[in-house]
Amino acid sequence: AFEAVELAPPDVIFEITAAYDADQSTNKVNLGVGAYRDDSGKPWVLPVVKKADAILRDDKSLDHEYLPIAGLPSFTEASARLAFGGDSVAIKEHRIASLQSISGTGANHLGALFMSKFYKDGKTPCYLSNPTWANHKQIWNNVSVPLFDYPYFHTKTRGLDIDGLLSAMESAADGSIFLLHGCAHNPTGVDPTQDQWVKIADVMERKRHFPFLDVAYQGFASGDLDKDGWAIQYFVERGFELIVCQSYAKNFGLYGERVGCFHFVSKNAETAKKIKSQIEILQRSEISNPPAYGARIVSTVLNDKALFNEWYLESYAFEFRYRCQNLREMSHRIIDMRQKLFNHFQKLGTPGTWNHITDQIGMFSFTGLNGLQVKKLRAEFHIYMTQNGRISMAGLNSSNVEYFAKAVDQVIRE
Ligand code: LMR
Repeated sequence: AFEAVELAPPDVIFEITAAYDADQSTNKVNLGVGAYRDDSGKPWVLPVVKKADAILRDDKSLDHEYLPIAGLPSFTEASARLAFGGDSVAIKEHRIASLQSISGTGANHLGALFMSKFYKDGKTPCYLSNPTWANHKQIWNNVSVPLFDYPYFHTKTRGLDIDGLLSAMESAADGSIFLLHGCAHNPTGVDPTQDQWVKIADVMERKRHFPFLDVAYQGFASGDLDKDGWAIQYFVERGFELIVCQSYAKNFGLYGERVGCFHFVSKNAETAKKIKSQIEILQRSEISNPPAYGARIVSTVLNDKALFNEWYLESYAFEFRYRCQNLREMSHRIIDMRQKLFNHFQKLGTPGTWNHITDQIGMFSFTGLNGLQVKKLRAEFHIYMTQNGRISMAGLNSSNVEYFAKAVDQVIRE
């Protein structure tokens, strides 16, 4: 009965990891999946995560019982404070329904599923940025909501196509869903400025569009949690009802533990309560209860002043302080790599302009390399990246950045 099932293509991101792992070359470079690597190219367990892990191991009161369906309360509450700010009026007014999720993907899925069931007739279109994270399309296709693209990336300027974006919002049917990346846009590394966010909010408010914010990189884009959370907090201040999808894969390096949080900000406490009760049913039918370990790690750090400061300290006076702050160590190493890569291109006189490498932010850079050049880099230089020319900056380090720059220089000149 299943002979007609078609063979699906491999995942565009995880196929790269598999091909890279199988490559025997000692020069190989993986710029595919967005996962942080230290300067020797190794995965990095955050020192603060190691400390939290030791605390949990010593805690004799912990067991392996189920978490509540909505997740660990100390985790979801701290997550809301992180996303919306400690003084958030929406938190004070109990207007936010927060549920622990299977990382950002799970949060996106819960949101998509909820919207398909409870937003108008379930057929309201959802608009995704062009380009966007490959998984967004699959997640929304699973819930059968009509999908459209909105222009985002300007290929000439390699910056934001704000005019295209705003006019797509203008011409979309009133009340459409717009999936926006709250910070560190994946794959382009191009974010709206605060002024542009204001314009986006103006149109969305007038058109009564629904903001669906995916925030997988808070603190990772600029190294500043508030700056990276600005768009979320601004939309809440403007009075929007909205969804926020939070991931702790990148900013805590907890990729495989699948730690995330889903938030629905509604108009009042009563609505938030009803929404939460419905999402709990969706959660129960799919995963029953979220996994405990990663949420306990994050909760331990976010709820302890000393550990929190080790992960992230708002103001820092001395160089040595930021050196030992885990979040800053990651974001600054990436910023440093952007500069080094740019310098190499300058030195080599690589054709084209390269300032987008340092202008773009977060984990990724949209290099502008075309499909053929990407193929050549893989075949001739053992350099792996997604077909659309996105590179994960975290895959670059002091030992391979020059090799990468020279390889790119060569394929561009061919
Ligand atoms: C990426 O875009 O590389 C990451 O977000 C990992 C993933 O799940 O695709």
